[in-house]
Amino acid sequence: MADSATEQRLAHAREILQRIRIPSQPAVIAELNRLLNEPHPDFKKIAALIGKDAAVAARLFKLINSPLFGRCREVDSIPQALTLLGTENLFKLILTSCLRESLASSPQFTERFWHHTQRVAIAADLIARRLHTVLELDGVTTSQCYLGGLFHDCAVPILCANFSDYQELFEMVVSYRQGVLDAEDRSVGTDHCVIGHLMAKSWSLPDHICKGILLHHDNLTSLRWSPDAVKLAAVLQLADYLAHHYDYLAGSTGLVIDTDWDIEEWFGNREYIGDQLHLDIDEIKYLRDELFELINSNP
Ligand SMILES: [Fe+2]
Ligand SMILES: [Fe+2]
Repeated sequence: MADSATEQRLAHAREILQRIRIPSQPAVIAELNRLLNEPHPDFKKIAALIGKDAAVAARLFKLINSPLFGRCREVDSIPQALTLLGTENLFKLILTSCLRESLASSPQFTERFWHHTQRVAIAADLIARRLHTVLELDGVTTSQCYLGGLFHDCAVPILCANFSDYQELFEMVVSYRQGVLDAEDRSVGTDHCVIGHLMAKSWSLPDHICKGILLHHDNLTSLRWSPDAVKLAAVLQLADYLAHHYDYLAGSTGLVIDTDWDIEEWFGNREYIGDQLHLDIDEIKYLRDELFELINSNP
């Protein structure tokens, strides 16, 4: 259940969405969702649907054949892609390419922004794999964590495209700074978490992913939210921090992240993350090292 401050944020965001446009869910995603949710998904129908949309199929092959997937031979047919990846991974890839395509028309859509988005998705996926027994109890899956990571900041380029004032905030929002929600609210009367939440809803993502996006900069000590949404938000907050931490240490950002960028200080200020995910500082450091190794091997 949302508290009254969040209800107010949602009401403001809905008002703003009457004036600005968020990218609508591509038809192929809606149809794919429907086919995948059938009791026995039909591979032939799924392959035919993807094959019918030349742009989606082309983007899919580009992603599958990129170094990220390290295949030794080229994938050039949809049935082959389905066999190699399985339906869940294929859906994730198609959603990734559709989201990129939908946001890319924003003048503030930068490679750095997209790198951050992908790294948070990869970090959330890694955290979920390591903590799957903790998350499973509340019905949170690795795929949901990945999708939450992919969509967590999706509102940033949309707000940049619609509010000239917001562009000044861009660097602050894509770096990890405290007080960002208040600064956004003062500037444009809404924030990227609530707009991202509404966009994820309009793309039919499961409810707790949408709520996790809404809460990804909030203090999670409130017990009014469902445990699945809070757990997902805790994964996103940790993934977001680790992705920024990587950029900071790699020197790929000249930005100061938070004053508490030091991992022990950061974790000390967010005990609720350790409580939610049953992690201590040594386990967080271990996850950090694993993530950095993964990113370094797939730059
Ligand atoms: Fe964010
Ligand atoms: Fe972020």
